[in-house]
Amino acid sequence: MSKVQSPTSNVQQHASRDEASDSQAHAGTADVRHWTLDAGLTVTDLRKSFLSASGERIEVLRGASFSASAGETLAIMGASGAGKSTLLHLLGGLEAADHGSILAGKFAVDRATPSALAHFRNQSVGFVFQFHHLLPDLTTLENVGLPLMITRATFGDAMRRAARMLEEVHLGDRVSQLVAHLSGGEQQRVAVCRALITRPALVLADEPTGNLEAAMGDEIGRSLMSYARDNGALVIIATHNRALAALCDRVLVLRAGRLTEE
Ligand SMILES: Nc1ncnc2c1ncn2[C@@H]1O[C@H](COP(=O)(O)OP(=O)(O)O)[C@@H](O)[C@H]1O
Ligand SMILES: [Mg+2]
Repeated sequence: MSKVQSPTSNVQQHASRDEASDSQAHAGTADVRHWTLDAGLTVTDLRKSFLSASGERIEVLRGASFSASAGETLAIMGASGAGKSTLLHLLGGLEAADHGSILAGKFAVDRATPSALAHFRNQSVGFVFQFHHLLPDLTTLENVGLPLMITRATFGDAMRRAARMLEEVHLGDRVSQLVAHLSGGEQQRVAVCRALITRPALVLADEPTGNLEAAMGDEIGRSLMSYARDNGALVIIATHNRALAALCDRVLVLRAGRLTEE
């Protein structure tokens, strides 16, 4: 997969125009706006437990801490059930921790209001899920363009930019197909495009190469690495895949609810 191209002036114009109108809409939550990951991500003493079906409390994270800088790629490894997905959900503000802090740049994810969190997720986080979670009844092009439409672009701009991105990953001839009709590898490439189209500062990928053959997994891994490098983004990948982890700058292992660097 070729690298993600840099934003066009067109997209930048839309971004700054929408930022201006957004600051009025979000007056009162000014702290979450215009944040970047320049100051890095600092995660301290995260704890999270769940109640099992039988009513037992399962302590999944028991004081997980780490920090990372913009432009880095991190692999989170650990056995199945170790809490990798849970950790990514907390980092992206999809779930709340029981204890601990997550500081993304100047933005305190763990203390944010629901609307500030929604804004953070839309503007700054790109998620790639193991089972891609694409919308099966939309076309490839619509799936990729949708996040951009929600955040900052007009329909036409979003579709043009989505088409360019799909072209780069050699899916240009699939743009008008329903994603349900694509192969697993193609769907996962579409999911990566969808996650990166808004140029998020933080990319959270949960087993992005989970069910794919090695060559396809490698291509997806490399596209995430080049995205981090070219955009100064922080990319965090939960994975079982040693080959994918080896592409990352750092490997953290989640064991007994805590993280250690390998
Ligand atoms: N919403 C939930 N309710 C109850 N248990 C959960 C929930 N989410 C995760 N768990 C449990 O937390 C543990 C860690 O899950 P997960 O984060 O998905 O692990 P991993 O991604 O490393 O395989 C597992 O035992 C799982 O069953
Ligand atoms: Mg998981």
